[in-house]
Amino acid sequence: MTFMKLGALSLAVCMGMGMTATTALASTEVKLGYALAPTSHYGVAADKLKDVVEAETNGEFTFSMYPSSGLGGEREVIEGLQLGTVEATIVSSGTLANFVPETGVFDIPFLFRDLGHARRVLDGPIGQEILTKFTDQGLVALAWGEQGFRHVTNNRNQIAEPKDMAGMKLRTMENPVHIEAFETLGAAPTPMAWPEVISALQQGTIDGQENPLSVITSAKLYEVQKYLTLTGHVYSPAMILVSKIFWDGLSDDQKAAFAKGAKEASTAMRAFVSDVETKGVEQLKAAGMEVGTLTPEARAEFQKALAPAYAHYAETYGQPLIDAIIATQ
Ligand code: PAF
Repeated sequence: MTFMKLGALSLAVCMGMGMTATTALASTEVKLGYALAPTSHYGVAADKLKDVVEAETNGEFTFSMYPSSGLGGEREVIEGLQLGTVEATIVSSGTLANFVPETGVFDIPFLFRDLGHARRVLDGPIGQEILTKFTDQGLVALAWGEQGFRHVTNNRNQIAEPKDMAGMKLRTMENPVHIEAFETLGAAPTPMAWPEVISALQQGTIDGQENPLSVITSAKLYEVQKYLTLTGHVYSPAMILVSKIFWDGLSDDQKAAFAKGAKEASTAMRAFVSDVETKGVEQLKAAGMEVGTLTPEARAEFQKALAPAYAHYAETYGQPLIDAIIATQ
């Protein structure tokens, strides 16, 4: 029986004994799951959240960390939060649009100019309003975090123009905006949960994947991938989420401690990402990756090739919202 099923079973038993779900799960143990290593940007953020909550509440909560997909793929962990079997997680935007479709607007390729632009949008009214939409899904979105800009790695060839991606079997997140973009570019996107990716790359069932430098370095993708192209094709936000069942069992002071912890965790994650965005390429070259970059002309070619996808994104999210994001200074 899996960990999550056990949790659901104990919830059912408690309810059978006449306790409410909130009472049963007003837990002081915080199981926090995330996909990457403890030394990654997620690990840094998880530790910061723990330290702040412990300090603010005089140790009322005990954190149990489950790094490296120890509780399963990101979708599975978010579902655990909805069930109340997991208290907290730090996730990419990979599957978020399947819970709150509005988050997908941030996954549009070449939308953000740089990290500063993305951070200002996420911290401003547009990003903050999207956070509020998670409560209807049994989730409390405490803060946006960050992974950086995503780049393509693969074992087939370097990418200088869109045709270099033709037919490339590229693992994508289970994210409809990304899938549509790569289909439009002529690649063969293969959505897959993260825990399966390394073995699929090793076995050659996919040619490549795309992720920010923070992930390429921390997951040691240089061990299984030869080419890195600095496509910077999309900004990758992250999110610090807690279970609404858990949240509803907290006092106002405890909620304030978690909110403060998440804010500081986000700041720590962004500082880590800023650092890896400067140093990561040299590390990956030293580890043997062949690194290329898109010229400004090639970037314009990619944007031109994406025109049909952009038209569809405008239908889905509304051109005024997209324009407001682009216009944010
Ligand atoms: O590619 C993904 O699925 C995500 O970026 C990852 C690596 C799980 C981090 O959230």
